[in-house]
Amino acid sequence: MRRLTLLLAAAAAAWFAGAPAPSAQYFGMDPGEFLFGECRDCHNFAEGAGPGRKAPNLWSVYGRTAGTAPGWEYTRELKASGIVWTETTMERWLRNPGAMVPGTKMDFQMPNDEQRELVLEYMRNADPAGYVRAIQGLK
Ligand code: HEC
Repeated sequence: MRRLTLLLAAAAAAWFAGAPAPSAQYFGMDPGEFLFGECRDCHNFAEGAGPGRKAPNLWSVYGRTAGTAPGWEYTRELKASGIVWTETTMERWLRNPGAMVPGTKMDFQMPNDEQRELVLEYMRNADPAGYVRAIQGLK
């Protein structure tokens, strides 16, 4: 019985982790902006702001080659990856950075499909010039 209870609790936890979150969870904020708050623990996202506490500035990241923001000491692995940041590459990255670039120091994953889409939408709207650059394939 105890084991069954534990199993049910684990299943419920897994279901909640994967389920689309109700909007009340975002405390009335734009959901993408709210979720991007997790990125802000490490990253800055503002023009000319320099790196964040634990990671490079993500401003204008769309269309940029990985590992090239000024003022940040990237891993050799990310610098050598040759990735150009578009919605497609970023979506894959956020799902599991270590799977895309083994050896990267970004120790964070966003496995929830809806949350990744919301974060990318927020970044696209906040930095439309970068986004246009990315879809045009310019750097
Ligand atoms: C725990 C800290 C941490 C969190 C949270 C985090 N990152 Fe990162 N991120 C890093 C680090 C460190 C790097 C540099 C990795 C390297 O050099 O290998 C990085 C690199 C990146 C890059 C590549 C930047 C470039 O200039 O090439 C992107 C894009 C990125 N992160 C997006 C995000 C987004 C979007 C989120 C939130 C959904 C996020 N990160 C959350 C630590 C973090």
